[in-house]
Amino acid sequence: MQFGSGVAVVTGAGSGIGRGLARKAASLGMKVVIADVDEPGLRETTALLRASGAEVLERRTDVAKNEEVEGLAEAAFKTFGSVTLLFNNAGVLVDGKSWDRSLDDWRWSFDVNIMGVIHGIRAFVPRMVAGGKAGIIVNTASVGGLAAAPFLGPYTASKFAVVGLTEGLQHELAALHPQLRAACLCPGEVATQIWESERIRPTARGAKVPFTTEAETKFRDRVAGNVAAGMDPAQVADIVFDALAAGKFWLFPHPDKVKERTMRRQQSLMRDEAPLFP
Ligand SMILES: NC(=O)c1ccc[n+]([C@@H]2O[C@H](COP(=O)([O-])OP(=O)(O)OC[C@H]3O[C@@H](n4cnc5c(N)ncnc54)[C@H](O)[C@@H]3O)[C@@H](O)[C@H]2O)c1
Repeated sequence: MQFGSGVAVVTGAGSGIGRGLARKAASLGMKVVIADVDEPGLRETTALLRASGAEVLERRTDVAKNEEVEGLAEAAFKTFGSVTLLFNNAGVLVDGKSWDRSLDDWRWSFDVNIMGVIHGIRAFVPRMVAGGKAGIIVNTASVGGLAAAPFLGPYTASKFAVVGLTEGLQHELAALHPQLRAACLCPGEVATQIWESERIRPTARGAKVPFTTEAETKFRDRVAGNVAAGMDPAQVADIVFDALAAGKFWLFPHPDKVKERTMRRQQSLMRDEAPLFP
């Protein structure tokens, strides 16, 4: 597939991986539609894209709200006429032990990480089908959506859902609209603001429930440290676009880690044993 003359839509483009994907799309000559709840972040991304000569449509969009994602799709098609790549990428990370996370914690994680992707699919896929052109729907899951870690229940559960949804979507598109396909991005550690998701928690979602054990704090400190030292989002974007051009479904910036984790998970299933971590 030629990306150069196409249109890319990226949610969560105000920071991190989304910004990296938007910049890569622009560098290939694509028109770019960027969405986020973080308006200063979005404006910064727009400035970077415009400085590189790209045509950009910027729109504040909360992916947890169906009507806002519908508005984004309407604006994208009205402005550019088609969509080639849809990156359902916006996400938040809520950590802590499962039994004392608040319902607000669980609902915020699910409303952004899985309902956000569902809203994207419902708003864009029918329009992409009607347009009749080739296209790819790329959903951002995580290594954590393929093998569970402790103290990350709301995040893990939402990312497992993204993986299942994306596999099912691929089956459906292959059966009904083979000009379109799906792809599932499962990064390991990438140096972004994902462990600072609380910075954008809406006040209506209440405050995060504090940790009550040292184990939770230790886990957070260790993994957040690994993420801070993780892969550059620009490198993730290079890997993603190469894999998409090669026709891949699984997009693995950290293939060794993913394969080791999923192998261990498969072994626990095949042996009918409890999972081990890591
Ligand atoms: N960084 C990692 O190590 C890592 C690993 C695996 C998966 N991921 C996934 O990558 C995706 C991108 O995250 P990132 O690492 O770049 O983090 P990030 O926090 O730097 O970027 C996420 C962006 O999503 C936006 N966002 C959050 N809620 C939103 C909403 N309701 N509507 C619209 N935008 C919203 C944020 O404002 C932010 O700009 C997420 O889905 C995340 O779960 C990240």
